[in-house]
Amino acid sequence: MKNVLITGGAGFIGSHLNERLLAKGYTTILFDNLDAYYPKEIKLRNIAEARDNERCHFIQADLRNKAAIEAAFAEYKPDLVVHLAAQPGVRRSVQDPAPNIDVNITGTINLMEVMRAAGTKKMVFASSSSIYGNSEDVPFRETMKVDLPQSPYAATKKACELLGYTYHLHYDMDIWCLRFFTVYGPRQRPGMAISNFLTALQEDREIHIYGDGSMQRDFTFIDDIIDGVERAVERVNGYEVVNIGGSKTHSVSELCDMIDRVTGRKLQRTHKPVPPGDVRITYADTSKAKELMDFESKVSLEEGIRRQWEWLQQTMK
Ligand SMILES: NC(=O)c1ccc[n+]([C@@H]2O[C@H](COP(=O)([O-])OP(=O)(O)OC[C@H]3O[C@@H](n4cnc5c(N)ncnc54)[C@H](O)[C@@H]3O)[C@@H](O)[C@H]2O)c1
Repeated sequence: MKNVLITGGAGFIGSHLNERLLAKGYTTILFDNLDAYYPKEIKLRNIAEARDNERCHFIQADLRNKAAIEAAFAEYKPDLVVHLAAQPGVRRSVQDPAPNIDVNITGTINLMEVMRAAGTKKMVFASSSSIYGNSEDVPFRETMKVDLPQSPYAATKKACELLGYTYHLHYDMDIWCLRFFTVYGPRQRPGMAISNFLTALQEDREIHIYGDGSMQRDFTFIDDIIDGVERAVERVNGYEVVNIGGSKTHSVSELCDMIDRVTGRKLQRTHKPVPPGDVRITYADTSKAKELMDFESKVSLEEGIRRQWEWLQQTMK
């Protein structure tokens, strides 16, 4: 059985992946600094149950601290890394790009350097649909030219994909960069649209919609993302960039109508100008994921919202 080190393992996607890999018999090492981007109590709660498993090890440390990564590799000798830790947030990166560059780029180089020295050859990296920028050519395919990132966040993800290629080329590392499309579901990172909207309903607050509601997103339910990552963990070989998305696109207005229907309540909508960095549409062509790893998304947006709403009601009891 493999030892898998998950950076960002206490976060939204990382904590779900951890549970999936533990259930499949892997040993996991969660490397996470519990960044203050959102409350660390949420992250500790995400992994509380999993930490009872003796095959799950948690290290609270920062990717900017190379010695801490070296110590983790010396102790646990991971066979494979799933690199999810990052400073997320498109809008915030436009206001304050430095932490993105520091964590996402320097942190990734630190990690790949330690992998190189330790002889750990396989990495699955969390890239992002934001890389496609404001392209109108939908659905997005991995072969498209993506040289116009609309935010520092997107630029850092692109930089990491490129660095991944050079590490593959020179150091014989197998690296797959998975471009995730707007991930939602139980434990979704606070601040993202669906999480914001459902919480606002619970708390009887109004919501802000950026623009006229016509902005479109390819929303991907967390279980589908984890299916994609698990398949990549099992197969990663060579260098690939692969879209992992729901392969459907919905406007924010459609999303709000759906939330009203599923919850039986009514979102109080107010409109605000579109912040810099936001793109008009995301929409994944996932035929490469199908071909490479037989991936297909399964959970409809309506079903996913229902599951996230049920989870939220349970957690807020
Ligand atoms: N959620 C999405 O819709 C989405 C879409 C595209 C890409 N992604 C990418 O997927 C990855 C996971 O996203 P998420 O939604 O689970 O976010 P998240 O914020 O819930 O998880 C990221 C985790 O990384 C940790 N972290 C941050 N900086 C760190 C550092 N310097 N050292 C160690 N750990 C650090 C955080 O504490 C957090 O637990 C990120 O790389 C993100 O950019 C997410």
